[in-house]
Amino acid sequence: MSQGETLLVTGGAGYIGSHTLVELLAAGHAVLVLDNFSNSCAAVLDRVAELSGREVPWVEGDVRDTSLLQKVFAEQEQRGTPITAVLHFAALKAVGESVAEPLRYYDNNVAGTLSLLSVMQQFKVLRFVFSSSATVYGEPTALPYVEDHQIAPTNPYGHSKAMVEQLLRDLCQAREQFTAITLRYFNPIGAHPSGLLGEDPHDVPNNLFPFITKVAVGQLPALQIFGNDYETPDGTGVRDYIHVVDLAQGHLAALDYGRKQSGFHAFNLGTGRGTSVLELVAAFERVTGAAVPRQWAARRPGDIAAAWADPSLAREVLSWQARHTIDDMCADGWRWQSQHPDGYRTASPSAPVRGDPAT
Ligand code: NAD
Ligand code: UFG
Repeated sequence: MSQGETLLVTGGAGYIGSHTLVELLAAGHAVLVLDNFSNSCAAVLDRVAELSGREVPWVEGDVRDTSLLQKVFAEQEQRGTPITAVLHFAALKAVGESVAEPLRYYDNNVAGTLSLLSVMQQFKVLRFVFSSSATVYGEPTALPYVEDHQIAPTNPYGHSKAMVEQLLRDLCQAREQFTAITLRYFNPIGAHPSGLLGEDPHDVPNNLFPFITKVAVGQLPALQIFGNDYETPDGTGVRDYIHVVDLAQGHLAALDYGRKQSGFHAFNLGTGRGTSVLELVAAFERVTGAAVPRQWAARRPGDIAAAWADPSLAREVLSWQARHTIDDMCADGWRWQSQHPDGYRTASPSAPVRGDPAT
């Protein structure tokens, strides 16, 4: 049952976008996915359709392609199902790559968002939910991070997110009816509890959790733990890991809030708890029974010792809070990885319902 809203979900075939689609569909929204599949594949959307029992219409295309966006918005109007809000996940997200290829990152992440916002303006679409990142804060002046912590990113990826945030602030100043909800994600991990959706990095993972699961499944020999001499209780880096389903549900809360409120609003989406590398590895081994061979390695350049959220603003204003534990994240992440050692190239356990390309 649709609540009469059609939501454009850019990057909907990606890790966080796909989990969010499941929640949006379960809440009765209609969705349209726009993805260029640069870091995903259409099979993900078949899984979302299978899980939801709903069609997942999609368009293959790039957010920088302004004329394609105009066509998509216009067609939805002609069908009598105009797009009423946009959730913008589409972005490149590898910190190291952004240092090596800054122009590609600014083009994709900043120019892509400009293109999208300009078409939204043309079609009078007034609600925008943006995937930002805790990385916009940079080196913590105090922990936990609160939303008015200084914005001081330390790499082009982080700058691309901070630039979009600024752009959204300026747009909200200029157009009083416009609403931009910026969600600053901490460290999303885990997978859908069904085991049908999860993270599917194409190359050797940069991030800790997918690296752990690839070691546990035998595809990588050992985890390198980057640094054992940080000023943290056990010397390893501390982060605020959040179950991807909790994060996905945060978008529903943001959409609801955006219906009542205009202007620019930023929220941390985290649990408020820090977990060290050693603690995460120990929890993973205990919960799954799988071994994670590991060795010490030098600190990774650019890493900070510890980062975790103060999530109280999202709790108070959005009535959202993360519910899953680290053990849930490990169990669900392992279910996905062990059932899908080759990610979405592994056959689905049951026949998928096909999502339909929309154009
Ligand atoms: P992902 O790579 O799995 O998903 C991004 C999706 O966007 C992919 O399907 C990709 O094909 C698509 N895409 C990229 N550029 C595009 C373009 N120009 N046009 C159309 N589609 C495009 O990444 P994710 O982990 O799901 O991240 C989603 C969002 O959340 C990103 O904006 C990312 O920066 C942000 N974020 C992620 C994390 C994290 O740890 N995963 C943390 C903080 C913020
Ligand atoms: N780590 C290892 N070995 C690895 C990978 C990571 O020891 O192979 C350590 C890191 O040093 C760090 C912790 O595990 O202490 C977490 O590292 P991740 O790479 O998983 O996460 P980060 O917090 O460094 O960064 C991630 C994303 C950023 C995003 C940030 C906040 O890569 O883009 O979370 O959301 F901004």
